Amino acid sequence: MRGIVRIFSGIQPTGRKHLGNYIGAITQYVAGQDRGNPAIYCIVDLHATTVAYDPAELRERVLDTTAILIAAGLDPDRCVLFRQGDVAEHTELCWLLSSVTELGRLNRMHQFRDKSVAQRELVSAGLLMYPVLQAADVLVYRAHEVPVGEDQREHLELMRDVAERFNARYGDLLVVPKHRIPEVGARVRDLQEPERKMSTTGGTPQGTVLVLDEPNVVLKKFKRAVTDSEDPPTIRRGAGKAGITNLIEILASVRGSEPADVERDFANARYGDFKVAVGEEVAAWLAPVRERYEALRADEDALEGALAAGAGKARALASETLRDVRRAMGVGPPGG
Ligand code: TYM
Repeated sequence: MRGIVRIFSGIQPTGRKHLGNYIGAITQYVAGQDRGNPAIYCIVDLHATTVAYDPAELRERVLDTTAILIAAGLDPDRCVLFRQGDVAEHTELCWLLSSVTELGRLNRMHQFRDKSVAQRELVSAGLLMYPVLQAADVLVYRAHEVPVGEDQREHLELMRDVAERFNARYGDLLVVPKHRIPEVGARVRDLQEPERKMSTTGGTPQGTVLVLDEPNVVLKKFKRAVTDSEDPPTIRRGAGKAGITNLIEILASVRGSEPADVERDFANARYGDFKVAVGEEVAAWLAPVRERYEALRADEDALEGALAAGAGKARALASETLRDVRRAMGVGPPGG
């Protein structure tokens, strides 16, 4: 039976979703589908415009992401799956919330700092406003719970702050949401540079396993994963063992078991054999997703149809919040 918890999460449009996104976020989205009332998942095309991008490609990448999410197990009839740019309430609430958002705080956000250093051309105001739009994404649905990976923690804190400040100033209209960060798999690391998180923008190509990689490519990346020089080699988590710890946690996530179980199962294994075992299990886990993706991606009309239906459901929920917020803020026609 469905409870009263409303779930929301957002994901950037790219066909290059990786194992970190999959383990840290997408498996949680699928699990949330039956708990959420409703579970709302948004492909954030507006966020994608905050860095250099190609407009025609953006449309393609939204469809790639939609197909990946459905292939992973999201059912557009059981959740609300839609494209951010289809629901204008997100941008309107973003503007309204900017009045209760502290500029200095936006300036200090890690993502803003990192991304503005990486930008070779324009550091846009959109990049600075990114977290306000992210706050609006969640607050416009009065969602209680936000499943994300560890790297979104700071954004979630800002979002809570904005909601609290809004409620203090205009009355208790917004729900202050909580993040849901998994205990294992919230920060999947690059296989080549395990001190860094797995990422298509900041990681290494060989250390980043893509959801759509062919099984032999997945296996090859795991075989080359960096380990450590502990003598004798031991499969356990611990300091100085970022590579092995990462592999243990990945396998535990894939199996739905505990890292300690993986340590026990591989207590006497050699690093090379362990890497092959993890690679084979991950490849077998992702293979059916990739196969379903191919079939789904080929039917663009069906994907657009699913997104349009999702946008209709999303708009109905979002417009209620906007009506209340506009009224409380004295914006627009009276009673509007
Ligand atoms: P995005 O698209 O970068 O990432 C999608 C989700 O994947 C998680 N993730 C990871 N988890 C574990 N290990 C990793 N190496 C790893 N890398 C990424 C992210 O934490 C995220 O949950 N700003 C968001 C999109 C967004 C959003 C929102 C999220 C927009 N509005 C509202 C939640 C609520 C982002 O760029 O995610």
